[in-house]
Amino acid sequence: MSNSPAPASSDQRQRTQDELKTLVGHAALDYVVRGQWVGVGTGSTVNKFIEALASIRHDIPGAVSSSQASTERLRALGIEVRDANEVDRLAVYIDGADEIDGKGYMVKGGGAALTREKIVAAQSDQFVCIADGSKRVQVLGAFPIPVEVIPMATARIIRQFAAMGGQAAIRMAGAKPLVTDNGQYVLDVKGLAISDPLGFETAVSQWPGVVTVGVFAFQRATTCLLATDAGVQTLSF
Ligand code: A5P
Repeated sequence: MSNSPAPASSDQRQRTQDELKTLVGHAALDYVVRGQWVGVGTGSTVNKFIEALASIRHDIPGAVSSSQASTERLRALGIEVRDANEVDRLAVYIDGADEIDGKGYMVKGGGAALTREKIVAAQSDQFVCIADGSKRVQVLGAFPIPVEVIPMATARIIRQFAAMGGQAAIRMAGAKPLVTDNGQYVLDVKGLAISDPLGFETAVSQWPGVVTVGVFAFQRATTCLLATDAGVQTLSF
C-alpha cells in the first residue's frame, strides 16, 4: 500500500462527517474518465459524489448504477443511467464502504445494495472507495457483516454463522424484514473478526441460499480516498 501525504491545508478545524463526505465525494471527480460510462455505488457518501457528478454530466455518456436509490438520484440530476448488461466495461467504479482495511478489502452492504455493488464492481477496471476516516480499520468485522440471502435459507444460514461464533439477525424495515432491490433478505452478522477476507468470502459465498456476502475481497478497492480533517488522503493498493 502506498500512502501519499495529505495535502497541506490551512483549514485544520474539525469537520463534520457530512463535510468529510462532501469533500471526498468531490475529490472522486478526478477519477471519472471523461467520455466513458462510470459505475456508481450507493450510500450517503456516494450521494455527495452524485451531486458532484452532475457538474460534469455533459462530459460523460452516463452511469451504471448499483441501486434503485442511486438510479433515481442520478436521473433526477439529468445523468443517463444504463443497465449493467448494456455497457461492456467500466473504467472506474466509485462507491463507499462500511469498513476498509490496509489491503483495500472492505465490508459493504450497510445500505443493502451489496449484490448490485459487487456486480458493477466486477465489470470495472478500478474500484475507487470514498470514505471518511472512521471507516479505516485494521481488521474487518467490527461493523456487522451484511449477507444477502434467499428467505427460505435464512434459518439455516443463521445457524451456520452461529457455528462460526457469529450472531446473525435479519435486517428489519419496521416490523417486517427489509427486502432488497433483488427481492431478498439481508442478515447482519456480529461477532466475527475477518482475518482472512479472501477465505471468508470464498467459503460463505458457497453456502446454499447466500446471494452475496458483504466482504469485498475479490472486488477490493484499488484506491481509497479517505477524508480527514487535514484533507483527502489517497491510499493505493
Ligand atoms: C451500501 O449498500 C453500502 O455498501 C455503502 O457503500 C456503505 O454502507 C457506505 O455507506 P455510507 O457512505 O452511507 O457510509
